[in-house]
Amino acid sequence: MSKCFLETSQITQELVDQMNQRSKHFEVLDQSKKDPKLNFGSYRACLYFDQPSTRTRHSFIAALQFLGISYSDFGDTRRSSMEKGESIQDTFKTLFTYYDIVILRTSDESVLDVAHVVAKSHQKTLINAGQGSKEHPTQALLDCVTLERERENHKLLRGSMSAIIVGDYDRGRAAKSFAMAYKNLGWGSIQVVGPAPLTKTSEYPVVPLSKALGEADIIYMTRLQSEYGGVSDAEFDYQDYALGPKEVSLLKPKAIVLHPLPRGKEIPEPFDTDSRAYYWKQEKVGFYTRAALIEALLL
Ligand code: MLT
Repeated sequence: MSKCFLETSQITQELVDQMNQRSKHFEVLDQSKKDPKLNFGSYRACLYFDQPSTRTRHSFIAALQFLGISYSDFGDTRRSSMEKGESIQDTFKTLFTYYDIVILRTSDESVLDVAHVVAKSHQKTLINAGQGSKEHPTQALLDCVTLERERENHKLLRGSMSAIIVGDYDRGRAAKSFAMAYKNLGWGSIQVVGPAPLTKTSEYPVVPLSKALGEADIIYMTRLQSEYGGVSDAEFDYQDYALGPKEVSLLKPKAIVLHPLPRGKEIPEPFDTDSRAYYWKQEKVGFYTRAALIEALLL
């Protein structure tokens, strides 16, 4: 495996299986609260996030802590020398001089390519933790690992599952990355449900929610990504794409409802206790999957 994890296209069935198996092992180890003795104590990592994050940031921090890797946070970019005109390239040269791993989330899609060139020349590890509205490959990986576990429990067969992606498809990097991974893995059909102005780029059939819900094994909900602009929220009512009581009544008894989180109002909190709600589990699988990914990149 290459030392960097940058694109959803890197997700293969072999990687999902490896991450599934290793993340399960890490979960057991973590719950035992014994020293996991993973011997990564000589590595150092830096988190460079110029966009808000709770889950991705903290699951990576928890994963680094679990592996025994010390880390630091780049902090507010306005406190760095970029404020004095330093280039992004020189900034990453500096980071890769001090750190073995950089975990990067950026609103500027082009920063990833610059950082990757530097990571390669320093033979260091770069992980894409969210690239503008384009890709979120570690989210797609943890989504697939979650699904692989539940697929086994639900006796769903790879190749014949049906998934729908609900909401802001065009601006949702998590939604697009999940769809790409699921399609590349050949796991089944994909349909998209959402307001017309937010589903223009979908290469999958765009269908009405009421029609798709009752047939779907996997429902991947997403929030409205207003921060990326481009579309006025006044053009549609996002509540038409929420899991209200009527929509919940249409779900298959063994449907798997995922959400990359954070949520808006598209999943009301009472649904959290429904046996078909898997997003809090998905969040937890994310921690162990990211630990397993970092381990695989370092070995
Ligand atoms: C992301 O960073 O893309 C999240 O995981 C999903 C979201 O923000 O809606």
